[in-house]
Amino acid sequence: MHRDLLNVIYTRRSVREFTGEKVKRDDLDAMLRAGMSAPSAVNVQPWAFIAVTDRDTLDKLCEALPYAKMLDKAGAAIIVCGIPEKDETYAKHYWIMDCSLASGNILLAAHALGYGAVWTAAYADNERVKSVRRILSIPQNIIPLNVIPVGVPADRDAKPVDKFRQENIHWEKW
Ligand SMILES: Cc1cc2nc3c(=O)[nH]c(=O)nc-3n(C[C@H](O)[C@H](O)[C@H](O)COP(=O)(O)O)c2cc1C
Repeated sequence: MHRDLLNVIYTRRSVREFTGEKVKRDDLDAMLRAGMSAPSAVNVQPWAFIAVTDRDTLDKLCEALPYAKMLDKAGAAIIVCGIPEKDETYAKHYWIMDCSLASGNILLAAHALGYGAVWTAAYADNERVKSVRRILSIPQNIIPLNVIPVGVPADRDAKPVDKFRQENIHWEKW
């Protein structure tokens, strides 16, 4: 039984304010491992992850990305990248789903380890994809799906939001 996991899932929130403290290397490793534990179509794993802890690089990303300003106080960022050409059939069509599942795992792992994190979009905005590619020297055939700032939450008492909606569920038939 893994009921603790349900508590992690139910209480995760996007965190956009950090203290500026660093993120431990072991904890980043655990988040990356969580990302790679995600399911993927035919287990092709069409992903690669860039872990950034360098302050100067975090600041460059912060400057270039209009919706990722929380990077200024983040201790690290994980960039989840897709590799559509890894496989002719599956990666090409499913890389977004595969990389999204990996990203979800990273967000949950960050929360489980006491950090806050938030998905900030790179793909499918051409300008943002270009900026992230340029700053991180990502080759043209690799697509940065997102930039996930990670840090110690400034507000440690933020309450979970219950997003359960009975009307979203249809039992047996629509
Ligand atoms: C595909 C996607 C793109 C997102 N892009 C951004 C973004 O650029 N900046 C940001 O602050 N949050 C972004 N978010 C986070 C959402 O705003 C957030 O998940 C949503 O408001 C629900 O809040 P919660 O994560 O606390 O449940 C994104 C989330 C997803 C799934």
